[in-house]
Amino acid sequence: MRSSRNGNGSDVLVIGGGIIGLVTAWRAAQRGLRTAVADPEPGGGAARVAAGMLAAVTELHYGEQLLLGLNLASAARYPAFAAELEAASGLETGFRACGTLAVALDSDDRAHLRDLHALQRRSGLESEWLTGRECRRLEPMLAPGVRGGLRVDGDHQIDPRRLAAALLTACERAGVVFHRGRVERLSVAGDRAAGAVLAGGTELAADQVVLAAGSLSGRLAGVPDEAVPPVRPVKGQVLRLTVPAPYAPFLSRTVRALVRGSHVYLVPRENGELVVGATSEETGWDTTVTAGGVYELLRDAHELVPGITELPLTETLAGLRPTSPDNAPLLGPTALPGLHLATGHHRNGVLLTPITGDVMAELLTGGEPPEPARPFTPRRFPSPAVSVRQEQPA
Ligand code: GLY
Repeated sequence: MRSSRNGNGSDVLVIGGGIIGLVTAWRAAQRGLRTAVADPEPGGGAARVAAGMLAAVTELHYGEQLLLGLNLASAARYPAFAAELEAASGLETGFRACGTLAVALDSDDRAHLRDLHALQRRSGLESEWLTGRECRRLEPMLAPGVRGGLRVDGDHQIDPRRLAAALLTACERAGVVFHRGRVERLSVAGDRAAGAVLAGGTELAADQVVLAAGSLSGRLAGVPDEAVPPVRPVKGQVLRLTVPAPYAPFLSRTVRALVRGSHVYLVPRENGELVVGATSEETGWDTTVTAGGVYELLRDAHELVPGITELPLTETLAGLRPTSPDNAPLLGPTALPGLHLATGHHRNGVLLTPITGDVMAELLTGGEPPEPARPFTPRRFPSPAVSVRQEQPA
């Protein structure tokens, strides 16, 4: 255990109480570090919007082999992580080992899915090609026009809102202190991070600071240019519907599709919620739900599963993915001693929650990150900060 140089402060201050900040705080507290989290509304953030797919295999992209290693390592931790978190918090997380079916609706979509299948096989991943008829046998609500699909039994789901609530309770039970206020700036003393100042002037002293503020991570005042994370917001609009009892089970697993080139996914929960996502928009810090966004999601979801028009639409929301220049997270120390990053998770924040907690706790106690996390040091982007900051709105 490290001891704090700040008698009244903490060993670790985490700026940002979304799932990434909370898992970092929980794991740090479990290692015996006196840990605090600063956030006006801990348990909020992008996880309020996210669907919660754990899609290491179905969201594989060309050129992201290193990220695949990290995603798979985190996916492998999920069952034990969810069980430990549920025991620690007394709350359910909605973890569901249901698998995923990715389908194609026209011949271009099918060619794209065939490419993905080939890439998955070259990467040693398990997925099975199904005909359209076989897809509909698995999921009878699918449209007759489905041309084929990939069955991926290892891509599961969790309910991100429940995950956030469970992490919050687990943190409280582990002794994490919460400062429910907006952080105005990072404090720097001499040549190292020394804590933060809240709006209103309260000073929080800490030996080590973790910046885990999602898409806002690059906007914190007081961070020297060479340590500013190169993170930008990528907007995602998401719909929530409810499956009334007579329609259940509407879908038995996560279904995702390419519908004439645009991506859509449907995530069915055991409690009857059906999440439909997501747009991907580079519109800055804008979280407006637009008619166009809702229209496109419903249009594509309807083409995939026509019966969706019968379901009550209960919620529309937009969130901001924190995205780095290579779509991969920033985990570890910065150019400013004492300041670490845990941000930039882009589309994989929920999936990468377990491994992020483990990596950050290891680093905060002076250890080395596990092998699959080593490439994701923030130092892979040399001094990117100035341009990132200048692009941001006032
Ligand atoms: N991982 C799904 C999304 O970001 O939309």
